[in-house]
Amino acid sequence: MGNTQTIEPVESVKSINERFDLSDTHGFLPENQTPSQMRPPYNVLLTVCNKLPELIRTHEIETVVNELEMIEIDPATTHAEYQTLYTILCLIQAGYIWHRGETIHADSVPKQISWPLHLVSKYLDIAPILTHGAVDLYNWQLIDPNKPFELENIRSVFTLTGDKSESHFYLVMVAIEHEGRPILNEIIRLNLLKNTSDADQITKSMQIISTQLDTINQIMKKMYGGCDSDFFYNQLRIFLTGWTNEKLFPNGMELENVGTNIRYGGGSAAQSSLIQVIDAFFGVKHQNGFLASMREYMPAKHREFINWVESQSNCTSLLINDQIKQMHSECLEKLVKFRTIHMGFIRHYILNEADKNEKLNKQSVLSVEGTGGTELGSKTESDSTEESGLSKMLQGFITDTTNAKYPV
Ligand code: HEM
Repeated sequence: MGNTQTIEPVESVKSINERFDLSDTHGFLPENQTPSQMRPPYNVLLTVCNKLPELIRTHEIETVVNELEMIEIDPATTHAEYQTLYTILCLIQAGYIWHRGETIHADSVPKQISWPLHLVSKYLDIAPILTHGAVDLYNWQLIDPNKPFELENIRSVFTLTGDKSESHFYLVMVAIEHEGRPILNEIIRLNLLKNTSDADQITKSMQIISTQLDTINQIMKKMYGGCDSDFFYNQLRIFLTGWTNEKLFPNGMELENVGTNIRYGGGSAAQSSLIQVIDAFFGVKHQNGFLASMREYMPAKHREFINWVESQSNCTSLLINDQIKQMHSECLEKLVKFRTIHMGFIRHYILNEADKNEKLNKQSVLSVEGTGGTELGSKTESDSTEESGLSKMLQGFITDTTNAKYPV
């Protein structure tokens, strides 16, 4: 017998990226942009998705979906094709359910959509409903392939309304995911660090994370410049809504050939793995279980990556000198800033718009709910200073972030 000594595989940033379906250059985004075309039989669905704004506006979506032929999922379907199919099917499904508005929504999805979406979601191990994955991760192209990846040079491939505000809403998140890639690489590098007294490496990695958090916060502020609040609240939000509201869905959703009484929350950037990974690395512990519940709405590999970071990271063991401790605190302060800018979105895009509608006597069951299913809580003119349920939850996340700071 020869030497049977086993050689332990050496883990590297590259091997971890591969294990969790991450890209060295794009982070949680796929490395290749979303295609504009697909091969038969998927091309039929892609054509419908391309026409969604018009089909929804004219309500033809109902007939078109009902008359679709059932497609087979080819066993040779590639990972990238599964991702695009997921986006297309989720968008068609959302258009079909909500095209007549809140009260006349569908509560059953025909099998021509529900069955392939079931198979595709099972493959990606993600909820079969419009998610951050569907509208952001797997739904972008470079406008000019020779120019850098940045908010001004990307476009959404598919939308529900055709409105620029809709794509801007998605693209701010896409641009943020792209800026997250160096953060993921450095978090992996620090988790794999054998010598935790390597002050140079720790300082370098913390510096990169800190700079990227600044860039992310700059991109966040660009939301206001391209997404109109009235459009977001009164037109787009409904399509992002899930099926958890008891009043609207007393019997949940029927997905033909899949099941009945099904309930999933709607699309929200709370389903982004990026912010949860940053929380996990810096040891931010959230009291409220909402963020943990959002992991069901992430692609399985990304969910597993968050678990890996949680199990590997021991950030405090890296805080070996005052400079690093200071940088650690600064990063958490920048994460607080991210969450504070985001609170501004809640005020501008949801609470103020809900107030306007209230003054106009516009009734809506969904006015008291975030798209991910969070209750906004009651807020009337007489108690306008009282925080809504949603604001309280998000304020709690800010406090949790601040509490993770290591005393310097
Ligand atoms: C018009 C802009 C936005 C609005 C109105 C908005 C709204 C919301 C709402 C209502 C929630 C609570 C969960 C729910 O019910 O959906 C939430 C959570 C969240 N959103 Fe946004 N959002 C916006 C943009 C963004 C952007 C650009 C990001 C960046 C990735 C983002 C990241 C998050 C995160 C990470 C959470 C979970 C809470 C936390 O970790 O602090 N959102 N958002």
